[in-house]
Amino acid sequence: MAAGDSLPAKTAQQMAVDGDQPPSKYIFNNTKFGPLETSPPFAPVPIIDIGCFFSSSNQQTELQKLRSALTTWGCFQAVNHGHSDSYLDNLRQVFRQFFELPLEEKRKYFRETGSVEGYGNDMTYSENQVQDWCDRLFLRILPEDQRKLRFWPENPSNLRDIIDDYTMKIKSISVVIFEAMARSLDLEEHCFSKHFTEEHDVLQGRFILYPPCPTPDQVLGLKAHSDRSGITLLLQDPGVEGLQVLNDGKWYMVPVIRDALFINLGDQMQIMSNGIFKSPVHRVVTNKAKGRISVAMFTEPDPNKEIGPVDVLVDEKRPRAYKTVKNYAIFNHECFQKGVIALDAVKI
Ligand code: OGA
Ligand code: NI
Repeated sequence: MAAGDSLPAKTAQQMAVDGDQPPSKYIFNNTKFGPLETSPPFAPVPIIDIGCFFSSSNQQTELQKLRSALTTWGCFQAVNHGHSDSYLDNLRQVFRQFFELPLEEKRKYFRETGSVEGYGNDMTYSENQVQDWCDRLFLRILPEDQRKLRFWPENPSNLRDIIDDYTMKIKSISVVIFEAMARSLDLEEHCFSKHFTEEHDVLQGRFILYPPCPTPDQVLGLKAHSDRSGITLLLQDPGVEGLQVLNDGKWYMVPVIRDALFINLGDQMQIMSNGIFKSPVHRVVTNKAKGRISVAMFTEPDPNKEIGPVDVLVDEKRPRAYKTVKNYAIFNHECFQKGVIALDAVKI
């Protein structure tokens, strides 16, 4: 168990309601990735019509855009994904309703110390860890037999069903994206997707509320990190920006495109693609006026199987860049505790 891990004395949401100044442990102080800038330029990340990946229509233009997006930014905005505005509005609304419940009700789903799953804050790994100005509900959704339903809210009463339904949608989109990624590199189309669909599907959901913050130039909503996932599919709040991506040492604001899914790669895809595709560092900034909600779904390969660069992407011109690793989630966690970046630790 992590030393000193605990739930915060007060949720970020409650501090925002009470008009509290963020306590000192929320104050940004890690300038490793540069200073905290609340309004850097917008990221010109490509907008990709993923509808064509579901059909047999001509995909060449979108495949080229995909390849270029993933080799430079490691992310893109996916439009034409087949899910209506009203469906996505309803999804966000259900999580908003959850966060609006009285603390007494949400408390039933509080995460336990030493564990990430449930409602609460980030797990504390070290004493000087800076806290994030957000509250989140984190759930392991797949494999289904590993669900801990005690953390799954029963209020709103349709929340569980909606997560299930959205999970099916996310699964089908992610398979199509994994296949398109393979085709964009002229590889056999299942070479990535098979790691994510055989035997075990692994999917986690993080549903996050970023309350307004009185000092956005001193406090991050979410610290800079790369995702450990295969890919992450993020539904942003249509009314508020906040997500930033790091590219070539500079921060950019991710524009909000109503009902686009923002898709970024995680470390495990950077490894499998032998470094051709990027797992971008990103973070979330807060603002004084508006709360923001986001729905993040993380796909991961089966933790019991080794992953590494796919064979066809290793050759004399491009030697193997990463060792194979098993259970990257645990590996990542152990690296984090030692203050090491997991992607660096698997580099050859
Ligand atoms: C994450 C993440 C971004 C957001 O949960 O890993 O990067 O906008 N979320 O909430
Ligand atoms: Ni992330």
